[in-house]
Amino acid sequence: MYKIFITRKLPEEIVQPLREKFEVIMWHSDEIPMKYEDIKKEAKDCNALWTVLSDKVDRELIESLPNLRIISNLAVGYNNIDIEAAKEKGIIVTNTPGVLTETTADLTFALLLATARRITEAEQDIRAGKWKSWTPMQLTGMDVYGSTLGIIGMGRIGEAVARRAKGFDMKVLYHNRTRKLESEQQYNFTYVELETLLKESDFVVILTPLTPETRGLIGKKELEMMKETSALINVARGGIVDEQALYDALVNKSIWAAGLDVFETEPVPLDHPLLTLPNVTVLPHIGSASIYTRLAMMQINATAIEDALEERVPENRVV
Ligand code: DGY
Repeated sequence: MYKIFITRKLPEEIVQPLREKFEVIMWHSDEIPMKYEDIKKEAKDCNALWTVLSDKVDRELIESLPNLRIISNLAVGYNNIDIEAAKEKGIIVTNTPGVLTETTADLTFALLLATARRITEAEQDIRAGKWKSWTPMQLTGMDVYGSTLGIIGMGRIGEAVARRAKGFDMKVLYHNRTRKLESEQQYNFTYVELETLLKESDFVVILTPLTPETRGLIGKKELEMMKETSALINVARGGIVDEQALYDALVNKSIWAAGLDVFETEPVPLDHPLLTLPNVTVLPHIGSASIYTRLAMMQINATAIEDALEERVPENRVV
């Protein structure tokens, strides 16, 4: 009987159907991650490895699992997996695109609005008893309506964010490896070079995958190009932004604010300098976290594993 190893406790309603056909071994906690060494030891003879985005699946781990046929990752991003190593070994890798597009775009917009209008700061002030009176310039933020939005990475989620931006009458600029000519016409957004996007946008939203090319894409030089009144919103991966450079830019007021759903190290350490700044709105990597979407993502993983183990080609193959 084929063996499936799941590195995080997942809802039984998703896992149960797999138990009827395969041996399923699942980590006991949905919150405490498995240690790398434990995955290596406990998944040793598995045929399918079901991972979450924080599991490091490097060459060493892949080579230590001789019976592995598929790695199915509970995320659209797969920067945690050594794709080349998987490819060399003929191991299928799948992800969960599509179902999370609108949910992640909703969250992107929520974070953009919260950052612009200082929503978390405002709530914290009330709870801390700091609301003394209605004050003319209290918690004044930036207008979203009619502003310019710059999207770095115009994939499915980028397009969904751009569609939402139309409702706020925003001018939408984007930068991407490839032009999206059809969508440009359909939704009236404009392709620009990265430099132009950084210089002209009021809100710069990062939605590009983390790859060797995009690691550190936004550093000191890029932040200095942004307007003093602008905000950086990152809902992609922490590694795309140089966090020290971002901290410096916020302290030196070369940009106005940041909204971050992702960090270089997750969970973000409590003593991280960015957490000391009131003009940084933070979230714990919840881009795709609606009940429906998370269950739909898991169902995609389950189906991919079933397909791979039963010799069908799974959808959403990365390799
Ligand atoms: C993904 O799927 O890559 C997202 O970061 C999860 O929210």
